[in-house]
Amino acid sequence: MEKIGDDANKKKLILVAIGGPSSSGKTTITKNLVKLFTSCKIVHQDDFYKPDDEIPLDPTTNEQNWDHPDAIDFHKLKNFIKKIRKYGSSEVNEKFDTLEPDIKIKLSEEEINHLKKLVDKFENYDLVIVDGFMLFHDEELARLFDLKLFYYADYETLKTRRSKRKGYSTVAGFWVDPPNYFDDYVWPAYEKFHKHLFVDEDVSGELNEYSKSLEIRGYKNSDDSKLADMVEWSIGQLSRYIDSK
Ligand SMILES: Nc1ncnc2c1ncn2[C@@H]1O[C@H](COP(=O)(O)OP(=O)(O)OP(=O)(O)O)[C@@H](O)[C@H]1O
Ligand SMILES: [Mg+2]
Repeated sequence: MEKIGDDANKKKLILVAIGGPSSSGKTTITKNLVKLFTSCKIVHQDDFYKPDDEIPLDPTTNEQNWDHPDAIDFHKLKNFIKKIRKYGSSEVNEKFDTLEPDIKIKLSEEEINHLKKLVDKFENYDLVIVDGFMLFHDEELARLFDLKLFYYADYETLKTRRSKRKGYSTVAGFWVDPPNYFDDYVWPAYEKFHKHLFVDEDVSGELNEYSKSLEIRGYKNSDDSKLADMVEWSIGQLSRYIDSK
């Protein structure tokens, strides 16, 4: 028998992808957005990693490559997103919301009060944000989302931010980058699987016409970017989306 959605699911669902390379600020922005909306749930792509013993090994070094798309169970992720589309955000439970607490930049009270005024129009919407580093490399996956927000930054910025990170929780434990991991795996995998989205295949540059045809919206989050501006830009994109419907 078909499930009937609860009250929250009578609201209109918006599936938002927050994608981009490691350390581009996806989790920072997601955590700040979720606090502003009355109905907003998070799906973390990291919850769809394969078990540790199925993470692909690099053929040259034999090290685990957590940044290769084969490390993620995309079949499971796509099915889950389709399930949310069909049954609503009540499908998203605690199990799928394990955001790591590595957020160093914060909004001021004044900024929060200003931003809160911008979200009134979302009262009747039910938002689900998927936060992940591989959401737009595959067109079929990208097309499952209503809104595609792509945060990125240049090589130096990402490398410096990543080097300051202690590590990542995994299904079986805690991952700490081995030496040179960013240069050997993180950046090459990002570049390899995203260059088709950029003008002249420059992944620090501008998104190309193909990305635009998929309605991917890019935001360069350098260290000069202010969190409040980034949050406001994201709300603006959501607003544009609902105005277009
Ligand atoms: N505009 C910014 N200025 C300075 N630091 C920033 C900025 N945006 C993000 N950061 C910092 O960069 C680090 C990485 O951010 P965050 O964890 O949000 O990235 P992420 O895209 O979720 O990365 P991952 O995919 O590895 O989880 C955090 O310490 C965050 O505080
Ligand atoms: Mg993150």
